[in-house]
Amino acid sequence: MFVEILSDYDAVSARAAEIVLAALRRENPVLGCATGSTPIGLYRRLIALGNEEGLDFSRIATFNLDEYVGLPPEHPQSYGRFMREHFFDAAGVDPARVHMPDGMADDLEAACAAYERSIEVAGGIDLQILGIGSNGHLAFNEPGSSLGSRTRVQALTEKTLSDNARFFGEGEAPPRKAVTMGLGTIMEARKLLMLASGTGKAAAVRDALEGPVTAMCPASALQMHPHAHILLDEAAASALAYRHRDGVAEPKR
Ligand code: GLP
Repeated sequence: MFVEILSDYDAVSARAAEIVLAALRRENPVLGCATGSTPIGLYRRLIALGNEEGLDFSRIATFNLDEYVGLPPEHPQSYGRFMREHFFDAAGVDPARVHMPDGMADDLEAACAAYERSIEVAGGIDLQILGIGSNGHLAFNEPGSSLGSRTRVQALTEKTLSDNARFFGEGEAPPRKAVTMGLGTIMEARKLLMLASGTGKAAAVRDALEGPVTAMCPASALQMHPHAHILLDEAAASALAYRHRDGVAEPKR
């Protein structure tokens, strides 16, 4: 793992955008996208930097980590809608190259298997963007998820439901299930880029980076990945025991 600690959310977003942009300059790039409030700044910076240098976003293929079960893609809280709003539309990503897990399929199991196959057919994911849940979840792999898990339906924990309730209107119940890439699926991406910001993530970040590798903290799987780059702001890094005293970068290899 390579852990970089930056001053604040904006610095994390700017650094993340540079890293993603470098990956997108290659031929036929396949980008793994994440939702949540954390990567919003990254997408904004990425679109600006990409446009500045004339990058053609319609060349890229994307695979998203997860989607709620039962929310149609036009639902305001669906992750499909989130991606169009925060990245795809403004960047000019080709809808034909966008892949989202299908939370509306009649046969969810078959849809999950088809999603795995489509990642394979695309040649695998070059760079997977990740956030982290305050309970240590990755995508919607909740604590207890097998480290080798594949794309599947996952029941959400009360912690995740309450964390994400803020995105839903009053009296609107968030879906209790989601389709998520598995930890095994995520670990096959050639590079991982995890972002975390704020004190609310500090304990999860500490457990993920310094705790034992365990299904009880799904993000601890990152310790086993050969190319995992972690970007934290000071607040998200505040519970780490090991860090460079005066620099911004702490290599943990
Ligand atoms: C959701 C997503 C995750 C995301 C997490 C953190 O549950 N499924 O992929 O990493 O929330 O979200 P936020 O960035 O809003 O804290």
